[in-house]
Parts: sequence; structure tokens; C-alpha cells
Amino acid sequence: MRALPSASFEITVDDALVSSFRRDGFASIERITTDEEVAWLREVFDELFAERRAGIPGGYFDLSRPYDAPGPDHLPQVLFPELAVPELRRTQLHRNARTISAALLGTDAGDLQSWGHLIHKPAHHGEQIPWHQDEAYWEPHLSYVAVGTWVPLDDVDLANGCMCFLPGSHLGEVRPHRHIDDDPSVHGLVTDGVDPTPMVPVPLRAGGATFHHPRTLHHTPANTTDRQRRAVAAEFQTQPTPRDTVDDRPWVDAGKAAWAERSTLDHR
Ligand code: NI
Repeated sequence: MRALPSASFEITVDDALVSSFRRDGFASIERITTDEEVAWLREVFDELFAERRAGIPGGYFDLSRPYDAPGPDHLPQVLFPELAVPELRRTQLHRNARTISAALLGTDAGDLQSWGHLIHKPAHHGEQIPWHQDEAYWEPHLSYVAVGTWVPLDDVDLANGCMCFLPGSHLGEVRPHRHIDDDPSVHGLVTDGVDPTPMVPVPLRAGGATFHHPRTLHHTPANTTDRQRRAVAAEFQTQPTPRDTVDDRPWVDAGKAAWAERSTLDHR
């Protein structure tokens, strides 16, 4: 693997970004890092997917099909790439995403933990990610203060799977979710009955970034183009704290049981 480019990319967070994030539950910027670093990130991304290598055992899987299903993946994901490639924590992208997340949350950057994932939408058959809230994936007995950061490594629009958000949806509760195809061995979740009318698509050039609240309803369309769509995502959050009341999220337990049954956990 090539050395991480050394050029720095300084960023300033303006008040408009913070106020739109708090009002709408999402925000975006045109650039979060340099073209050179985007090129380096593409190389890392391609290598990890080619080797199906993730930061934890079993951390490579198709989000939209049962774990370890045969055939080409439609929506492959790599969990915790920073554990496989520690340089990912030394990028301009990582530093700037932390700085912006702290400003959006009104916390100190030093108080934020982070974990990442990479999502690939291959040309022509990259599957959609249906409407969901990220917090629906997480522990129902914990309370989260978090920002989801998302950086495309290829130019994105509606045709190849840009982010689409529902403004103001972060102000609601975590909705009921279910596993795609009602199959807990499919990692991806969906919530039904979403009115997509107010949807805001966020087309971006490679190296731009979106930021969203863990309760913001969002989805990405299928990739119908001959262009691949690679994206680097990371969650920045304070230490989660116990909730006073525990939400009923049976899909979380069902998903954990399906994950634990995977036959490949020992050797990936
Ligand atoms: Ni999401």
C-alpha cells in the first residue's frame, strides 16, 4: 500500500452548516479532503474489497443479501476498516470529519469516539439502501449523541446512489424497522410507510461529504449506471449512556442471533 499523502487540508465550520444540521438533521460540504487523498482512499478501498478484508472477523458482507450468500455481491460493506488499515485514522478526511462532527454536536473533538465502514455500489447492479434510521441498528438500552459522516470517492447523483434525506425526520423517535426481506440474516434494515415527498437528494463530487443525525431518515438509490460508487462512512459519537427506558427493537436481537450463527466468523 502506498504511503498516505502528506498535504494537509484545513477546514473551517461556518454557523450556517451547524444551523442547517440542527434544523434539517443533515448537512453537506463540497470538499473534506484533497484529490490526492481521495486517490489514496480509492486504492485502500479497492484493496480491502478485492481481498474481502475487514477490521473484524466476518466484517465483510453484502448488506442486501443473506450473510455469505453465493454469487456477486449487490451492496458489499467492510466494517471497521481503520482496524485493518490504521492510517485511515491519520487522514485529513478523518481529522476534518471529527472537527465538523464536534461542531455539529457542540462537543469537544477529543470527546468523540469513531468507527467506520466502507460501502460499495458496483456499476449496474449496486442495490438500493432502503429508508432507515441508523440508530435503529444500535443498542436499544443506550442513548447516543452522534453524527454519521459519509464521503463519496466517486461523483454521486441519483442515478448511482447519492444520499437522500428527509428534512426534520431526526426530531422523531426511532421507528419500527425490520430486516430486508424479513430475513434477519440480511444485515440491512428498512422502515415501512415513509412518505418520500420531501426527500432531498445530495449529489456531490468525489471528496465532498454529508453529515446526518442518527435518527434522520435516509436512503440511497440503486446504481443503474456504468460508474461504480464507493463511499467511506464513519460515525463520530460521545460515549453512549444508559437510557431511562429501553426501546422495543426486536429486530436488533434477531440480527445478533443471525450474525452469531454465521459459519465464516472463524476464518474471515
Ligand atoms: Ni444509514
